[in-house]
Amino acid sequence: MTLSQNEQKKILAVKAANFVEPGMLLGLGTGSTVDILISTLGEKFGDLKTLEIVPTSLDSADKASKLGVKILEPKSDLSPDLLIDGADEVAPDLSMIKGGGGALLWEKIVAHNSKRRIYMADSTKLVRELGHFLLPVEVVSFGHEWTSMALKKIFSAVTIRKTAEGEIFKTNSENLIYDCQIVDDIQIDVLDADLCRIPGVVTSGLFYGFVDILLTVKSENVIEIYEPRDVFW
Ligand code: 5RP
Repeated sequence: MTLSQNEQKKILAVKAANFVEPGMLLGLGTGSTVDILISTLGEKFGDLKTLEIVPTSLDSADKASKLGVKILEPKSDLSPDLLIDGADEVAPDLSMIKGGGGALLWEKIVAHNSKRRIYMADSTKLVRELGHFLLPVEVVSFGHEWTSMALKKIFSAVTIRKTAEGEIFKTNSENLIYDCQIVDDIQIDVLDADLCRIPGVVTSGLFYGFVDILLTVKSENVIEIYEPRDVFW
């Protein structure tokens, strides 16, 4: 029997919740797997008042605060003990594409400032090479059409993200997102450096060097991956 994507997300969330202890400061990711984690934590702890979180989106903050979790602002004297987040694609070197939910910037900032990071990726997210999923690139609104012209020199297709209602999507920092098709044989670190050099680009959904533990599913079991291990892809 093969587990559906949702069933996988559920067992990933249950596994991830095992890493959470009362009194922890948690970096809370964004997305449907994290939504399941939030409700799983609710079931595990009952009263979530012992938990404090730094959220990676207003959406996650809203969902967690409904369960009584204390929401903290990022501050210099705070470092989340653990970040738990989802992913859109994960390659064997544990580089990832994130930002399908549009929270890439806050997700990257919280990840960078957390002591330990766990990512949950169901088996559909594992890819030999990044780039099947369009790479989200967050840009400031000012001059974004010029910025998109620079992006078009790097990517084979570049599309501004819109909401289901056809409005231009705005991130939690009031920026815009261009979803970009990565060309073949790209070197992730070179691509990231090229993007950072474009005025107007805030960040991209390329995450590398962030994974401390990857939780994924193989034959109905959750596997913990601590370092690049081709064998699972
Ligand atoms: C949001 C993200 C999410 O982590 C990513 O999109 C995975 O989402 P889901 O758990 O719904 O598959 O990067 O910006």
